[in-house]
Amino acid sequence: MTEALRVAVLVSGSGSNLQALIDARQSGRLNIEISHVISNVATARGLQRAEQAAIPTSVLEHVKFADREAFDRSLALLIAAGSPDLVVLAGFMRIIGPAILTPFHGRMINLHPSLLPLYRGTNTYQRALDAGDSQHGASIHFVTEELDGGPVIAQVVIPVREDDDAAGLAARLAPMEHRLVVATVELFTTHRVESSEGQVYVDGTMLERPLRLQADGRLDV
Ligand code: GRF
Repeated sequence: MTEALRVAVLVSGSGSNLQALIDARQSGRLNIEISHVISNVATARGLQRAEQAAIPTSVLEHVKFADREAFDRSLALLIAAGSPDLVVLAGFMRIIGPAILTPFHGRMINLHPSLLPLYRGTNTYQRALDAGDSQHGASIHFVTEELDGGPVIAQVVIPVREDDDAAGLAARLAPMEHRLVVATVELFTTHRVESSEGQVYVDGTMLERPLRLQADGRLDV
């Protein structure tokens, strides 16, 4: 078995996607070591989930820094201290500045609850409903300087129901996001995944479109 992929996970809230990674690691599905969980929110439930799984945690509260750049520099050092192969932003509610991006370019991915390029930013569920979309979903993309704008690696699609409200749609999407996160991290453990000039390459082949999560919980690589 190849060496476990070292994964750092950044969270700001509940950390249910972190939990999905922990569970997949514990069940043997994922050959990863979650080396570090970092939060900008001291009370984030995700930190407790990490502690329960004996994963080292750190809190770096952005409110305690003079400006965004100072926070970003400290966060970059903190992430680098764990020497991760991959950094997963799973509900990390901070914009990633150049001080963080530069050292981890091509090694940092973000989970976003929309079918990018639709609905960057917040409030994605309501925006999809307001637009009358028949489908919604989640995307995982490489992080770039553009908010929610980096090359998309993988997506999961769910139908929008007539009686859906934003909360209902979010609740139905959440378990699919968990599967998407696990499948995408698995891709990094089993394939060479790279981004170059706004495109995603898997084992050297450019993706024509984002990979799709299949019913069996794997991506259509
Ligand atoms: C997810 O819906 C994700 O798409 C968004 O934040 C949420 C994180 O949930 N970026 P959790 O903290 O993993 O439970």
